[in-house]
Amino acid sequence: MELFTVTDGCTGCGLCVAACPASLVRQRTPGQPPQALAGREAHCIRCGHCVIACPTKSFVHTLLPQDAFEPIRRKEFPSPASLRHLLMARRSCRAYDPAPVPRDGILALIESVRHAPTGHNMRQVGYVVVDGPARMDAARQLVLDWIGLEVAADSPRAAELHLAGAARAAARGKDVIFRGAPHVVVAHAPIEGISPEVDATIAASWLEIAATASGFGACWCGYLMFALAAHPQVNAALGIPAGHRGYAALLLGRPATRVGQIPPRDMPEVHFY
Ligand SMILES: Cc1cc2nc3c(=O)[nH]c(=O)nc-3n(C[C@H](O)[C@H](O)[C@H](O)COP(=O)(O)O)c2cc1C
Ligand code: SF4
Ligand code: SF4
Repeated sequence: MELFTVTDGCTGCGLCVAACPASLVRQRTPGQPPQALAGREAHCIRCGHCVIACPTKSFVHTLLPQDAFEPIRRKEFPSPASLRHLLMARRSCRAYDPAPVPRDGILALIESVRHAPTGHNMRQVGYVVVDGPARMDAARQLVLDWIGLEVAADSPRAAELHLAGAARAAARGKDVIFRGAPHVVVAHAPIEGISPEVDATIAASWLEIAATASGFGACWCGYLMFALAAHPQVNAALGIPAGHRGYAALLLGRPATRVGQIPPRDMPEVHFY
């Protein structure tokens, strides 16, 4: 199967050649239409950069239908100042309206971050949305069970995360695990792979920003992330597919209160090398 074809509009400019990260698009002679590197079709990561690089829309990728490409509307980009303000205004939300977020709203957030980058364009990040009070109770209990094991073992993890204190607070009825959020969203990816943990973490980070932009509150749920890392059975109990692991977890809901200020954060140390 040909990896791609080019139509008569090709000017031989070579931009598709330069754009392919896998060097699969070659030009025998400058100024001539490109050819696919024979026998290496399986190395294509389906990133679409060859197609989008072509100024005359002459590059037709066999695996990527032309009508699946969308035009970029640069006028709709947020200004640098408004994006900066959104990023500065993102905060960890620890007080939620207990009402669940409609599934459509959660799906819209997840849909909006589907272009998050992944190593080798693997795009294997999936999500489990813990939905409803009964499921949140069950998920919380999984975390408390993990905390109980760490505390009983007097583990270094228990000491560094003050897990005994968390267990005591939970016993007093304080929800230090999920902070009363109606949902926790777990981003999962394969256990083995190029960069599954980074890919899932990037996706969840984008999700947190998208949630902020849509007026939702979110907060990283380290307790659940540590439990997912420590115990395969926590992954299975949450319905994470076999062969995958939950790497990132975000509490999600409508904030119970709105804050009006941005606390100070130092400029990080930067060295130019
Ligand atoms: C963890 C990670 C590592 C990556 N490493 C490289 C890299 O070494 N070289 C490169 O050209 N692209 C790298 N990328 C970019 C991916 O190949 C790219 O995100 C993917 O092909 C999808 O293309 P897009 O980002 O244009 O949507 C990396 C992306 C991630 C998330
Ligand atoms: S989709 Fe990406 S990897 Fe495949 S040929 Fe095009 S540019 Fe190269
Ligand atoms: S980018 Fe388009 S016009 Fe330029 S060489 Fe490739 S197919 Fe031809």
